[in-house]
Amino acid sequence: MKLWDKGGQVDAQIEKFTVGLDRELDNQLAKYDVLGSIAHITMLESIDLLEKEELLLLKQALRDIYKDIEAGNFVIEDGVEDVHSQVELILTNTLGDLGKKIHSGRSRNDQVLVDLKLFFRDKIRELVGDITTLFNSLLAQADKHKDILIPGYTHLQVAMPSSFGLWFGAYAESLIDDVISLHSAYQISNQNPLGSAAGYGSSFPLNRQMTTDLLRFDSMNYNVVYAQMGRGRVEKNVAFGLANVASTLSKMAMDVCLYMSQNFDFLTLPDALTTGSSIMPHKKNPDVFELLRSHCNRIQGLPMQITLMMNNLPSGYFRDLQLIKEEILPALDEMQECIHIAQYAIDNLTIKDNIIQDPKYRLLFSVEEVNKLVLEGVPFRDAYKKVGLDIQDGKFDTDYNVAHTHEGSIGNLCIDQVKDKMKKVTSQFHFEKLDEMTHDLIGK
Ligand code: ARG
Repeated sequence: MKLWDKGGQVDAQIEKFTVGLDRELDNQLAKYDVLGSIAHITMLESIDLLEKEELLLLKQALRDIYKDIEAGNFVIEDGVEDVHSQVELILTNTLGDLGKKIHSGRSRNDQVLVDLKLFFRDKIRELVGDITTLFNSLLAQADKHKDILIPGYTHLQVAMPSSFGLWFGAYAESLIDDVISLHSAYQISNQNPLGSAAGYGSSFPLNRQMTTDLLRFDSMNYNVVYAQMGRGRVEKNVAFGLANVASTLSKMAMDVCLYMSQNFDFLTLPDALTTGSSIMPHKKNPDVFELLRSHCNRIQGLPMQITLMMNNLPSGYFRDLQLIKEEILPALDEMQECIHIAQYAIDNLTIKDNIIQDPKYRLLFSVEEVNKLVLEGVPFRDAYKKVGLDIQDGKFDTDYNVAHTHEGSIGNLCIDQVKDKMKKVTSQFHFEKLDEMTHDLIGK
C-alpha cells in the first residue's frame, strides 16, 4: 500500500504517528493534486515519456477522480499514506501498469508544494471575495451614519470629534491594506515548483515552462533547491496575510466591545445577537465580538508558530514541514468564519444618536475653537493658549455647531476613492485565470 513499499511492514505506532492528521487534511488538497497531475502528464507526453494514447487514458481517469472528489466520493483509504499515494493507487487499480508511469520526473515533495500553492490561490480568492463583502458592508454603514458624531480618543482620553462614518470607513480602508498583503502571499504562491522533484530536479528534460503555463502560474521557482525551500515560506506568507486581516478584525471587535459598554453607550446589538448571564438577569453581552477578537488574536500568532516550526531546518525536504498543514489549513477556515460573522454582526449594529450631547464630552470641540480663532487671524499658538486658559478658568463654552468639522476630515469620507482603491488592488489578482486553468485541464 506504500509507494515506497519494498516488502517490509511499517510498525503500526510509527505509521500512526507519521501520518497523524495528514490524511484528513490532504483531502482538501485532492482536487489540486489531480490538476497538478494532469499538467505533469501532459508535459511528460510532450517529452516522449508517455504515448499519446497513454496520456488520453490517464487524463480521462484523472478527470473521473476529479469528479469523484467534487461529488464527495473520494477517500484516502486506511494504510494509504497521503493524497498523492491515493491518486496513484486509483490510477494503478484502473489502468494497471500505465498508472505507475505517472510519477516519472516527480516526487511527492514537489507534488505537495504544487498542491498547496494551487490550494492557496483558490483560498485567497475566496477570502478576497469575503473581505470585499465585509468591506462593502462597512462602507454602507459609514455612509449611512456619516453624520453621527462620536468622541475620538487618544490615550483613551476624549480628544477630538469623530464620526461613525469615519469609524466604519477606517476598518474598510484597513481591509484594503490587508488585501495588499494577501496579494503578496498570492504572488509568492503563484510560482510553479513542479519539476523540482525531490528538491534537486530531474535528469529528464522536463519542460517546466509548460506546466507553469498549464497551471496558470505567473512564473516558476527556477532554482530547484529554492523551490523546495519555498515549503513553509509560502505557508508563512499566507499566514502573514491572514494575520493582517485578523489584526483589523480584532481591533474592530475591541472597539465594538468598548462602545457597547454602558460607560460608552454608542451602539447596541439586537438581543438575538447577544448572550446572557446565568446569574445577572439584565445581561446582554457582546460575546460574538469577544470571540471574534480571540479567534483573530490566535490567528495573529500563526506566522510565529510557523517560523518556530521551520526554525533551523537546513535546505532540503524534511517531514517536519508536513505539520505546518495542521496550522495553516484550519486557520484559513477559521479566518473565513470570522469574516462572515464580522459582516453579519456589523450589518446588525444599531447606532445610537446624540452621543456627543453628553456633558462629559464638553471639551471635544476645543480644537474647533482654536481653529475658529486661527481663521480670524490669530496665530495658532496664541489661539491654543487662549482656549487652554479659558478651559482652565472654566470659561470655555462648548459650541456644538460643527460646521467647520463638516468641512474638514469628518465630513470628507472619500468613499468613492476608497472603493476605487479596493477595485484597483483586487483587479491585480487576475482570478479569472484560475477558472481558465480548470476549464482547460478538466473541461466542463
Ligand atoms: N505528507 C508529506 C508532506 O506533507 C508529503 C511529502 C512526503 N515526502 C516524503 N519525502 N516523505 O510533506
